[in-house]
Amino acid sequence: MRPIRIDVTSERGPYPVLIGSGTVSRLPELLDRYGLGQQRLVVSSAPIWKLHGRQARGLVARGDKPAMMAVGERAKTLDTVRALYDACLSRGLDRSAALVAFGGGVVGDVAGFAAASYLRGIGLVQVPTTLLAQVDSSIGGKVGVNLPAGKNLVGAFYSPSLVVCDPDVLKTLPQREFRAGLYEVVKYGVIASRRLFDRVSRNLPAIVSHDRALLAGIVAECCRIKAQVVMSDERESGPRRALNFGHTVGHALEALTQYRRFRHGEAVGYGMLAAARLSVLRGALSLDDEQSLMDVTRAMGRLPRVEDLSARDAIDAIARDKKVVNGRLHFVLAASIGSTVIVSDVQTKELLHVMRTLGMRD
Ligand SMILES: NC(=O)c1ccc[n+]([C@@H]2O[C@H](COP(=O)([O-])OP(=O)(O)OC[C@H]3O[C@@H](n4cnc5c(N)ncnc54)[C@H](O)[C@@H]3O)[C@@H](O)[C@H]2O)c1
Ligand SMILES: [Zn+2]
Repeated sequence: MRPIRIDVTSERGPYPVLIGSGTVSRLPELLDRYGLGQQRLVVSSAPIWKLHGRQARGLVARGDKPAMMAVGERAKTLDTVRALYDACLSRGLDRSAALVAFGGGVVGDVAGFAAASYLRGIGLVQVPTTLLAQVDSSIGGKVGVNLPAGKNLVGAFYSPSLVVCDPDVLKTLPQREFRAGLYEVVKYGVIASRRLFDRVSRNLPAIVSHDRALLAGIVAECCRIKAQVVMSDERESGPRRALNFGHTVGHALEALTQYRRFRHGEAVGYGMLAAARLSVLRGALSLDDEQSLMDVTRAMGRLPRVEDLSARDAIDAIARDKKVVNGRLHFVLAASIGSTVIVSDVQTKELLHVMRTLGMRD
């Protein structure tokens, strides 16, 4: 089956996103076709490479091996970036070289930042292996790392030269990771496509059991939406804000629980319900559409509890969030399933109310 191809334009030039079953085993051929890196360094994590590296082994030159990062958010640091610079230097990589980020969003963000900064920028290929990374983090060029003071505080806009999404690799994802990514898929439906939303709602069991063709189509639709949004607003000054639907309350829940209780997508799941409630109260969204969102999130399974979390503490976390610009909170509301409207006059009182409707305490 030929991969689906989506072309993205960016300040650094155009790049294709290829989505298709079996594309990982064709990586050496694809990189050659797009003229990427006679010299290349694959960056991954041991568990991911163990599961899927065999198919991609042709990427690694004889006598070389991938640079392995530790697993998870804790590895998203400047120390890891420095270790990647060392790996580049020890292989004598020059400006014509490319890093191949083979992993989830963490690997993509860190390897992307290393590629953006090593020798002031070398090639970057994203091979996302989580649903979240395939539909979100691999496209759009945001790369970076965390500081002890907070998440994603250091970074750059640095678009890849190629993105390759193989839905087959998602089979080994723990169910919880997969479902967490699915909340972002639902988000794309709410912000931009009723068709996508309905497709997900109607086919949830087949999606969760990894129906290949269905999954490839859904990933492609999300990539198309993300590509369209970032192309219209590469540096996130306007339309790109719609991607933050569900993220204001979502980020607050993650921060309140020290990023330990929720997978990012799960927090966004709550955030979308809160944003939908507020949208209804503001007269922007119909009760039917809110109900559709509630139905699909319920069908996706139970979310971690929020009953012990304080809505007031969440307000404080929101006030510290990056989305507050010049003291104003830009809040993304749903106007329907498939469109959004951004408001900047949301009152604390309203936020407290909608968070209580999620079950949070005062
Ligand atoms: N750059 C952006 O635009 C952007 C957007 C959204 C999120 N992010 C970032 O992405 C990160 C989260 O990404 P994530 O959710 O992919 O998490 P992750 O990279 O930590 O991966 C989640 C877990 O899945 C494992 N894994 C990855 N692929 C696997 C596979 N195919 N089979 C089995 N296990 C696999 C990983 O080892 C890890 O344990 C966060 O740091 C977030 O800030 C960036
Ligand atoms: Zn998100």
